Amino acid sequence: SAAEKGGWSSFMAKEISEQPAAIANTLIGRISDGAVKLPELDALGPDILTDITRVVFLGCGTAAYAAMLGQYAIEKWAHIPVTVELSHEFRYRDPVIDNRTLVVSISQSGETMDTLMAVKYAKELGARTLSICNTQGSTIPRESDAVLYTHAGPEVAVASTKAFVAQIAAIYLFGLHLASVRGELDAAAVAGLTAELAALPAQLETVIEQKDSISQLAGWMVDTRSVIFLGRHAGYPIALEGALKLKELAYIHAEGFAAGELKHGPIALIEPGQPVFVVVPSPRGENSLHPKVISNIQEIRARGARILAIAEEGDVSVLPFADTVIRIPLASTLFEPVLAVAPLQIFAMELAAAKGLDVDQPRNLAKSVTVE
Ligand code: G6P
Repeated sequence: SAAEKGGWSSFMAKEISEQPAAIANTLIGRISDGAVKLPELDALGPDILTDITRVVFLGCGTAAYAAMLGQYAIEKWAHIPVTVELSHEFRYRDPVIDNRTLVVSISQSGETMDTLMAVKYAKELGARTLSICNTQGSTIPRESDAVLYTHAGPEVAVASTKAFVAQIAAIYLFGLHLASVRGELDAAAVAGLTAELAALPAQLETVIEQKDSISQLAGWMVDTRSVIFLGRHAGYPIALEGALKLKELAYIHAEGFAAGELKHGPIALIEPGQPVFVVVPSPRGENSLHPKVISNIQEIRARGARILAIAEEGDVSVLPFADTVIRIPLASTLFEPVLAVAPLQIFAMELAAAKGLDVDQPRNLAKSVTVE
């Protein structure tokens, strides 16, 4: 009902606006004096976090993209091998799992059948299981050894938004905790990273405040038939998520690619007028990917692509090539994605609304898929 939407035009609009709170609530009580406190992980059993030799993430859809960020973060911070598996693929491909594998499932609903069955299968193979979930008392946490709840609040719109950013926050807390108990990050490093996590809600608020200009952009693009999304490193899962949102909500063909993969195929798709969103890494990033992405932009621009850049405040290098620049505040590499995803969520929602579609209940989709 209109009252439940609290004055917003849709649950999705409301839930996008609730993203800063979803992150803040997921962090509450879990950071103290710069250290991460996650007593709920004790349920895994003593010494499990130091004994494991690898982490396997499971998820579907948006949850799997949050898991990809988890892979980048945890390998960097905890130096332990991490893989990401789509739950429905994992179950049917003889994965190599043992009792020193920690399987971390990501699910907003806690009821996704593909993920539930994959968790059960992992347990049969001897793995320890941790659920990162937004729904208290749901099935996947009950089937897992331990649960780390996200506190995004109930998510009603079919397309996930606030649950996604809360998942990233929870996964990062878990990664920092893992890195500290394994002695891979010292207290000062963890304190610095938890401070960056804690800064995200206010930073994300400033991104969401740009919604009117993103909405205008979506209005201009209502007849668009195909949109490409490019990102690299932590921007790559965001490119995938931007494309997923546009497919789900606006029924527009959309694909996300790792920018480095362009020259291996996707660049053939570029023709005059093709809209391409590019998540531009920070020029301050320690991995020097910024000039590589700028050169990708130049290559596709030269072939007529229309560039919609999501770039850090003050990054002027995109200006000569971008048709539109959406700004995000300064954040370090692993934290940028949380800020960069919001414009893409808003874009997909507004484009769907401009086409007269129901953004909360897209055709053919269900909020939680409880069949295989
Ligand atoms: C459905 C929804 C997606 C969601 C996915 C996983 O496909 O449409 O938005 O990302 O399920 O859902 P879960 O509840 O497991 O996070």
